[in-house]
Amino acid sequence: MKDKIIKDKLPKHVAVIMDGNGRWAKQKGNMRLFGHQNGVKAVREVTEAAAELGIEYLTLYAFSTENWNRPKAEVEGLMSLLVSTIASETKTLNNNNVRLRVIGCHNLPASVQKKLDECVAQTASNTGLTLVLALSYSSRWEITEAARQIAADVKSGKITAESIDENTVSQYLSTSFMPDPELLIRTSGELRISNFLMWQIAYSELYFCETLWPDFRKDDFYRAIVEYQGRERRFGKTSEQVRN
Ligand code: IPE
Ligand code: IPE
Ligand code: MG
Repeated sequence: MKDKIIKDKLPKHVAVIMDGNGRWAKQKGNMRLFGHQNGVKAVREVTEAAAELGIEYLTLYAFSTENWNRPKAEVEGLMSLLVSTIASETKTLNNNNVRLRVIGCHNLPASVQKKLDECVAQTASNTGLTLVLALSYSSRWEITEAARQIAADVKSGKITAESIDENTVSQYLSTSFMPDPELLIRTSGELRISNFLMWQIAYSELYFCETLWPDFRKDDFYRAIVEYQGRERRFGKTSEQVRN
């Protein structure tokens, strides 16, 4: 699959909704947390694949605002898995020149926030792939926060209401440091967005696959890129316009 990828037509930013951990574990007669634990391998694979290809930004949806409503034991298990994974992977991130950033993150337990801050600081000077973790993230929350901040800045006279355009909105979102994703991947056969990057994916190519997240490997990632490269992105224009 990797050989089919056109090197000069790579997306700059790929976003992934990593879904299906619970079902993967259940199929094997295990607890849901076992699925999350095995999802870490897939995270490693995709991060490595993206870094090797030279993709600039990889955003992974790791925990949604709505996921707080899951059973307490699962939430706690996920949080401690996060802390231990981040701690153990920081070295690998540095070895691979990967910079970690996070979006969302409201109401995270202090221990998780601390580990995240440490890893972000320790990888801040890396210049390769930027790995963005969406953690305790939801798009409606993000847009609401942006609206509140814009309103505050209008009130204080920092900006005028008339000057607000699409760029302004983008700049107030937590993703302002990166381009919109050209490609969004969701695993596990679910055909929905689940409150992820709704502003940013306005013109993203959507790719859904049946593979459950813990089974997702480099080749699955390459397959998504190849499919993306075969699509015609028209942005409202006609096919003829795009081709000429
Ligand atoms: C995705 O897998 C991981 C998180 C949401 C944290 P799920 O836990 O949603 O797995 P399924 O969808 O129940 O199989
Ligand atoms: C979306 O998956 C969130 C993450 C992958 C972290 P969910 O499994 O929580 O989504 P829904 O609730 O089934 O839509
Ligand atoms: Mg799910």
